[in-house]
Amino acid sequence: MDNLQETDLVAIRDETVEIARAAGRLLQDYFDRPHTMELKSAATDLVTEADRASEQLIVKRLQAAFPDHQIVGEEGGSYAHDATEASALRWYIDPIDGTTNFAHRIPHFAISMALNGLDGFPLVGVVHDPMRGECFAAARAQGAMLNGQQIKVSNTDMLARSVIASGFPYDKWTDTRNNTSEWANFVVRTRGIRRMGSAALDLAYVAAGRYDGYWEQKLSPWDFWAGLLLVQEAGGVVSDLKGRQDGLLSRGKVDMIASNSHLQTQMLAVIQQGPDAPLPAG
Ligand code: IPD
Ligand code: CA
Ligand code: CA
Repeated sequence: MDNLQETDLVAIRDETVEIARAAGRLLQDYFDRPHTMELKSAATDLVTEADRASEQLIVKRLQAAFPDHQIVGEEGGSYAHDATEASALRWYIDPIDGTTNFAHRIPHFAISMALNGLDGFPLVGVVHDPMRGECFAAARAQGAMLNGQQIKVSNTDMLARSVIASGFPYDKWTDTRNNTSEWANFVVRTRGIRRMGSAALDLAYVAAGRYDGYWEQKLSPWDFWAGLLLVQEAGGVVSDLKGRQDGLLSRGKVDMIASNSHLQTQMLAVIQQGPDAPLPAG
């Protein structure tokens, strides 16, 4: 496992939790102050000074603790050291996942931090919700935890009894592949759908058994790697929209379905068959 022993992974996970909690305290301080918002790729895509300050804190702490690792942060791009592309362990950092909520003073957002191994998949993942004081953490083959207590996915095995989550991409005004038809197809086949505005927390909630499943399109690596490990370590499964694992390693934006495992085939059917997918009996 990239020469890392179990004990190393647990130590890295615990250090990551400390760093995420420190960034969380900083975001709590920023939350009540007036925000300066800037636009990024579209009028719907925001960044605040808190995003940048959180990323700065995280990157500084990671560089001090793990000087050989590469770091990819949403707001700063790549903070490579001497590491070459293929040979380094790599962090994916989202300093605020849920910036639209943060900027509009909706207290639902998270810090997302994943360390990916040489096989491209995560070794450690932490999603921290500072406003609720909920820290979700996982290390590969070590299970998933919420504030130190083990968590498991739900047992729901019928889509008609499920509550699932999703989100919409920032180019939704201009690209018709914007998840609205998928949303319509799931609405009539599930108990409920939530669009809470943080992909990382959506995945963490699947891991904790709060949601039974989640799908989304056009995610970036910092949105999903930490949450993906949480879901897997809590007993769930994650795939691309064709049901494959390798699609998740794509260098571009990623489409995914995550579930408690029992619902994966039913969710894939809704995505793949659209309006022709089976409807609940009622
Ligand atoms: C966004 C959130 C949102 C999801 C978007 C993401 P950001 O991340 O996770 O829930 O629907 O696709 O880009 O911009 O708040 O870091
Ligand atoms: Ca994000
Ligand atoms: Ca972000």
